[in-house]
Amino acid sequence: MSLIEKVINKKETSQTPIWLMRQAGRYLPEFKKIREKNPNFIKLCLNENLVQEITLQPLKRFNIDAAIIFSDILMLPYGIGQHVEFEKNFGPKLGELKDVDLSNMNEDKFVKKLSPVYNSFKTLSGHLQSKNKSLIGFTGAPWTILVYMLNKQSPKKELDSNLRDISENKKIIKVIIKYLKIHIKNQIKNGANIIQIFDSWAGLVENKYVGEMIYEPNAELVEFVKSLNVPVICFPRDTNDYIEFVNEVDPSVISLDYNVDIKNIVKNIKVPTQGNLDPNILLTNKDNIKKHTLNILENFKYHPHIFNLGHGVLPQTDPIMVDYLVNLVKDY
Ligand code: CP3
Repeated sequence: MSLIEKVINKKETSQTPIWLMRQAGRYLPEFKKIREKNPNFIKLCLNENLVQEITLQPLKRFNIDAAIIFSDILMLPYGIGQHVEFEKNFGPKLGELKDVDLSNMNEDKFVKKLSPVYNSFKTLSGHLQSKNKSLIGFTGAPWTILVYMLNKQSPKKELDSNLRDISENKKIIKVIIKYLKIHIKNQIKNGANIIQIFDSWAGLVENKYVGEMIYEPNAELVEFVKSLNVPVICFPRDTNDYIEFVNEVDPSVISLDYNVDIKNIVKNIKVPTQGNLDPNILLTNKDNIKKHTLNILENFKYHPHIFNLGHGVLPQTDPIMVDYLVNLVKDY
C-alpha cells in the first residue's frame, strides 16, 4: 500500500505524503520542449508514449508519492464529440454544444475515442506499482465540465447568463454524469488507484443552487467511485462551505483551496484532508516557503493529511522551489 493510501485507508499521521496538482506540465522545461513539438494538445493527451513520459517527468525530479495521469478534464467534452482546442496564451476553446449529436454517441464509441488514455493508465500502473507510488486518475466535476461546455472557454469571475438556466443545466449534467462514470470506470479498470474530481468553478454557484449543481452531482460520483473500491478526492475550489460539502458529499479525502481557515477545518472535518499551500508562495523565497509549509504541517499534525497546493503549480514556478518544498515535507 502506498503512503497516500495509508493516509486514506488507515488514517496514518506519522508521515505526510506529498504530490502537487498540475505537477506535470507548464513549469517544467522538459515538458515545454515536448509541448513545442506537439502543438495539438488533445493529440498530445492521446499519444501514449508521450503521456507516459510527461506523467513521469515530475517523479524523476522530485521525491513525490504519486503520479497524476497527464490528461485534461476537457477530454470528456472531446470524447462525446464537442470540438475542443487549446490556443496559446488563451486556454481552451470549445465548439457549440448544440452541434454535438448525442443521439449518435454511446459508451463503445466514447471508450474507443479515449482508449489511448486508458492504455496509458495500464502501462503507467505497472511501472508505479513496483515503486509503491499511487497513480491518480481524474475528471472534472459535472458543474465544472458544464461551465466549459456552455461557456466554451474559461469563465470570468462571475457566472455568464448562459449558465443561469438551472433546469437546462440539470438535463446536460445528467448526460455529463453518464459519460463521467464510463470515463472513471475505465481509468480504474486500467490501474488508477485514486480518483480526484476537480470542481474548479464550484465557487461560481449561487448559494441557493449549490445543492443541485455541486453537492448532488459530486455525491453521485463519489458513491460510484467508492462502489468500485477506490478512494475519491474532491476539490470543490472556492466553495463557500467545505464543512457542509463534506457532510453532503462524503468524499474519501477533501482537497482544500488556499483561502480556507485550516484550524476550523481540522476541528470540524473528520475525513482526511489535502492541500493547501498557496501556489504563489512557491514564487517567493525559501524562508517564506518554509514558514508557510511548516504552519500547514503543524496544523495537520494529528489529522490524516496529504500535502498539496491549494490550486495548481503556476507556470512561472522554479522547479528548484518545488524540490525544496517536497524535501521540507519529507524531512518533517
Ligand atoms: O496535474 C497534472 O499534472 C495532470 C494534468 C492536468 C492538466 N489539466 C494538464 C494541462 C490536470 C489534472 C488538468 C486539470 C484541469 N484542466 C483543470 C482542473 C484543475 C484546475 O486547474 O482548476 C481545468 C480547469 C482544466 C482545463 C484547462 N486545461 C485549462 C483552463 C487550460 C489552459 C490553462 C492552463 O491551465 O494551462 C488547460 C491546458 C492544460 N492542461 C495544460 C496542461 C499541462 C497546459 C497546456 C499548454 O501547454 O498549453
